[in-house]
Amino acid sequence: MALHRRYGDVVRLGPNRISIGTPLAIPAIYGTGANLPKGDFYRVLQPLAHGRVVQGLFNTQDERLHRALKRPIAGIYSMTNLVSFEPYVDTTIRVFLERMETQQAAQKTVDLGAWLQFFAFDVMGEITFSRRFGFLETASDVDGIIGDIYRFFSYGSAVGQMPLLDRLWAKNPLVNWILPSKNSSVVAFAVARANEREAVNKKLAAAEAGVDGEDGEDGEDGKYADDREEGTYNSRDFMSRFLETRQKDPSLPAWFLTAWTTSNVQAGSDTTAILLRAIVHFLLTHPASLAKLHQELASACFRGDIVTWKESRELRYLDACIKEAGRLHSPVGLAMERVVSAPQGVDVCGGTHLPQGTVVGLNPWVVHRDRRIFGADADEWNPDRWLRPKDEQRAAMERSLLTFGAGHRTCLGKNISYLEIYKLIPTLFSRYDITFETPDEWKLVNHWLVFQQGLNVRINIREDREKSQLTEVQ
Ligand code: HEM
Repeated sequence: MALHRRYGDVVRLGPNRISIGTPLAIPAIYGTGANLPKGDFYRVLQPLAHGRVVQGLFNTQDERLHRALKRPIAGIYSMTNLVSFEPYVDTTIRVFLERMETQQAAQKTVDLGAWLQFFAFDVMGEITFSRRFGFLETASDVDGIIGDIYRFFSYGSAVGQMPLLDRLWAKNPLVNWILPSKNSSVVAFAVARANEREAVNKKLAAAEAGVDGEDGEDGEDGKYADDREEGTYNSRDFMSRFLETRQKDPSLPAWFLTAWTTSNVQAGSDTTAILLRAIVHFLLTHPASLAKLHQELASACFRGDIVTWKESRELRYLDACIKEAGRLHSPVGLAMERVVSAPQGVDVCGGTHLPQGTVVGLNPWVVHRDRRIFGADADEWNPDRWLRPKDEQRAAMERSLLTFGAGHRTCLGKNISYLEIYKLIPTLFSRYDITFETPDEWKLVNHWLVFQQGLNVRINIREDREKSQLTEVQ
């Protein structure tokens, strides 16, 4: 951000690496017709399992593979399918509220940052596999999965700037042979769930045919088992739909199932957690905004304890706050790099020529603070900017948002994450009064400089909510 303020829209970060600071370049870099493939940064973000790279929707550089992975399942993520996932989100929200209230009763304060992260991971487990990871139940990082993802992205953020290091180290077959790398815990979880589901399906098929099936396996080692009855998986979770997709087209390779399910967890958990934390942080540090939101929530008429997707879509100020948090604290904080592939190169920013092979990207943190687009207060929290009439400037702001990326590699799970966020935030603030335990707790960090950030708060159930009981968790 500092370099762009100093040198302008085009900044050269390395011998062959360009950062662009203006949203006007979005069509040239990410536009569907631009055809710029992802750079080696994404290769660093491909996890290893048994020494082999596992490519997925988000991290593959191979455009043909990307099309093959995306085409059969894109419809599952559509807006029309969204409501069918709502019951899973409700179940997880109930567990979240109950467990957090229990901890608050025992300890007087809670680290809301940690709970929001437990929520974001567990809801992805529930939606994808009908199985939570167990973070909310245990209030801890079960099997170190969150820690693993944190280290994985920390490594990727630095080494991704020098992808050659990854080839020489983590992805080097010789290094892997001498020092076998640990399998990705997310891939292990996904494979365990797929095996488990296959065993259940076989057993059901055998029962239908009147033959005794073998005992269902509980994944690789049974450690993720819960008391869910075999055969009671909801047939509308992602895993069931992915399996249906493969049944319809058996030519799709078996490993696609792992790629699809891991993409959900890898691309959709931490990102959603970051945005949830940012929304809460900005509201707690801007009392006038919080008061406006409370006013909106008080005048809305919710049917139950958990705000529905339909109800939340009516909340205009909430909508503005979510957009504004995504603008100011975009979960993706690095340039989304692409490689200029056309032999004639690409022209950007009214005359800068980028030759073939140049690595180029736009960083949401830079673009979202462009004063020409967002106004003189671009660095400030001001949700009202999203409530202005839908004029040309508003349209330009909408076009410039890169929170979920742009073009044909834009976020596939945007609707899913919105479903979680638009339900959880109003539910949280209509149920509780939340106050910071220590107001300056939140620190804006670069992972490599500071390691911890907390969101220690005190939550009190609001008077009007005290009598309402959460319905029992299934
Ligand atoms: C607030 C939450 C989220 C944010 C901010 C976010 C952001 C992004 C961004 C910026 C990209 C594009 C990256 C690039 O161009 O390099 C992306 C891609 C992707 N996201 Fe998300 N994401 C979120 C939630 C989710 C969720 C919940 C899911 C899954 C259910 C998901 C699945 C994906 C997938 C599969 C891709 C790759 C799409 C493709 O290349 O075709 N994301 N996300």
